[in-house]
Amino acid sequence: MKTENTVWHEQHISKQQRSTLKKQKPCLLWYTGLSGSGKSTVANAVDALLFARGCHSYLLDGDNVRHGLNGDLGFSDVERVENIRRISEVAKLFVDSGLIVSTAFISPFASDREVAGKMLEQGEFIEVYIDTPIAVCEQRDPKGLYQKARKGEIKNFTGIDSGYDVPQSPAIHVKTAEKSIQQCAQQIVEHLIENGFIYAL
Ligand code: ADX
Repeated sequence: MKTENTVWHEQHISKQQRSTLKKQKPCLLWYTGLSGSGKSTVANAVDALLFARGCHSYLLDGDNVRHGLNGDLGFSDVERVENIRRISEVAKLFVDSGLIVSTAFISPFASDREVAGKMLEQGEFIEVYIDTPIAVCEQRDPKGLYQKARKGEIKNFTGIDSGYDVPQSPAIHVKTAEKSIQQCAQQIVEHLIENGFIYAL
């Protein structure tokens, strides 16, 4: 809980200095999409391309973060909101450290994504909609979860008995059913170059 006895301490090294050192503009690639849409796969491919270019990046992945920091949270609406709130706070710190940060969470509620965007400076938040039809996600079913959800063994499953707000104007719209993973990753890297976050080689 915030108290009147905690005081914000300014740090000596600024975000600007850190990003100058890293020769890049920090930002947050906020991946959103259904389970099985390919968020983690595409985000990992982007991370690999960035690494190969000598960029400094880090990926916060839904399933991994739910093993640790958010291990106490389930999938009720309230818990999903808290999941995204914590991720937003962590991502903000990572951006402050000068990194190109990726978060790969379903993040089903537009209002939460909006809050995450508002926590950052103008232009730093890049919403990446991993747009894969639910039929394709369900066919892929990499973790067998859709099958369980259809049988009623998992409750509140996104797209089945829990909602997903489709992004209305994502900065990057990726259609994984129509392109290869590499093409999707390339699309995102090109956006970063075109918008001056990283340099063209
Ligand atoms: S979010 O809705 O709170 O943003 P998050 O991305 O962290 O979700 O976690 C989603 C992952 O948890 C899915 O990819 C899936 O592997 C797993 N999962 C387990 N139960 C559910 C559920 N009820 N709804 C959606 N995903 C679930």
